[in-house]
Amino acid sequence: MAALVLNNVSKRFGGLLAVSDVNLEVPPGRITGLIGPNGAGKTTVVNMITGLLKLTTGNILLGDRDITTAEAHEVAFAGVSRTFQNIRLLPEATVLENVVIGFHVHVKSSLFAQLLGLPSSLRESPKLFERGWQLLERFGMTRFADHPAGGLAYGHQRRVEMMRAVATDPQILLLDEPVAGMNDVEAAELGTVFNELAASGIGLLLIEHNIRFVNQLCQKVYVLDSGAMIAQGTPQEVMHNPAVIAAYLGGKK
Ligand SMILES: Nc1ncnc2c1ncn2[C@@H]1O[C@H](COP(=O)(O)OP(=O)(O)OP(=O)(O)O)[C@@H](O)[C@H]1O
Ligand SMILES: [Mg+2]
Repeated sequence: MAALVLNNVSKRFGGLLAVSDVNLEVPPGRITGLIGPNGAGKTTVVNMITGLLKLTTGNILLGDRDITTAEAHEVAFAGVSRTFQNIRLLPEATVLENVVIGFHVHVKSSLFAQLLGLPSSLRESPKLFERGWQLLERFGMTRFADHPAGGLAYGHQRRVEMMRAVATDPQILLLDEPVAGMNDVEAAELGTVFNELAASGIGLLLIEHNIRFVNQLCQKVYVLDSGAMIAQGTPQEVMHNPAVIAAYLGGKK
């Protein structure tokens, strides 16, 4: 498994420097935290890593491979997977179908095309559905397998997104506020899953506003504020950092 490394990465939107000279490492087998107030640039970082946005400066490495200018599908194929802050599912398709779509980056014939021919083509990919079912078991979602994804409660839709991201068998998993809208019990359940994924060797980047959750899961946390990385260290270290406290209180920067 490879580390993801960002070197001096910046993103300018017109007059706004949304991300400024950011250095960040997501090592394999660990959960790395990325926190910061609204508008700090967290999602923009994920969008640059995944090839949705071009960098203004800097470079991004996955192991010894330079993915700075790679297109989104190339980044996905290289082993970087993500969830979206705003859930993106096929609302009419079932939970199991949504998860199986995640496998498509590793399937030669277009599974998307196959899925358009539902349901007869489903029988042609029983192996994928078996693997999809295993993911549903892992995330405690088997009872929803046949439910349309769009009809699920918010927390359950988030799980479907995560299963779909994990279905690609990623080296790096970028989670953009995965437990937003969940209660503490649901979040803790997912925390256990994240720990299992890290134990399997995946490098996770956890973007989260729930500081307690980050404290429990991350050995290392980065803090972004107004596009700049203002602190990094253990959760304890960053939470006692005066610049971090000022950023969260909206004080002087
Ligand atoms: N495509 C875009 N065009 C112009 N400005 C953008 C674009 N995307 C983001 N921004 C701006 O860049 C800044 C960083 O936004 P970003 O969404 O990365 O923040 P964030 O840390 O993810 O915030 P939140 O915690 O609210 O999700 C914000 O000022 C935002 O308005
Ligand atoms: Mg965001």
